[in-house]
Amino acid sequence: MNKLNRRAIEALGNPLAVRVDFHEEIGSTQERARELAYRGAPHGTLVVSRVQKSGRGRLGRNWGSPLGGLWMSLVLRLDLAPDQAPRVTPAAAVGVAKALREGGVDVRIKWPNDLLVGERKVCGILAESGGRDPNRFIILGIGINANLDPQELGASPDRVTTLRSELGHDVDLFRLLAAVLAKLAAELDRLHDFRAVLEDWRIFDCTLGRCVRVQRFGEVVQGTAKDFGPEGQLIIQADGGPVEVFEGDVQHLRHESC
Ligand code: BTN
Repeated sequence: MNKLNRRAIEALGNPLAVRVDFHEEIGSTQERARELAYRGAPHGTLVVSRVQKSGRGRLGRNWGSPLGGLWMSLVLRLDLAPDQAPRVTPAAAVGVAKALREGGVDVRIKWPNDLLVGERKVCGILAESGGRDPNRFIILGIGINANLDPQELGASPDRVTTLRSELGHDVDLFRLLAAVLAKLAAELDRLHDFRAVLEDWRIFDCTLGRCVRVQRFGEVVQGTAKDFGPEGQLIIQADGGPVEVFEGDVQHLRHESC
């Protein structure tokens, strides 16, 4: 039975899915969750849609979201200082990586928020803040390329993959969602112990040791990814010395480029 519906998801009893807003088709779950958050939706409001017509990725990129993927956004109201909000992305990446690994997919985390199999992306994560104290919120968007062929995603097949391609069969989207929510809840519960999240991140990481190029604020930093800082920032050994990057678009380059 296909249990990907509002009632079944709410019946999971997961604290991240206390209120479920389920759609067959929507513009973007991210926009919908933001709208609900501004209207006062509580922590644990989950928006899921089978299809997104205008799915959005980082840096305003298009995110192809046809039938067969898991497209979701969560309203989070966390007890975090504003400067700790960036912890949510790595914690989410670790949580989703654990869920996918348990499902038999050998995913790795490319800093800061891409889940890859080999060099191909299987999942994207988008955490965006909104509101003002005391009504601050974070919208955590997660897109997993599940029961799809890579050609359906409108991106180069060299750059994207799907669970179907990796596993050779389709997955039960309800079970996948349940696993993702369970792992996410556990990671978000330990945001105050961020060192533990970072330790797990290192297990899944595929960026450290690589030659990388990062675009940030119109500037390019190139060098070897050396370490993570205490808040998950990437420390790059560039020609002029170490550079700390808090966000940006990272490209993995060939070793000879550094
Ligand atoms: C990225 O890697 O650029 C982030 C992609 C995030 C995509 C998800 S799919 C569900 C949610 N709704 C959106 O419009 N975007 C996020």
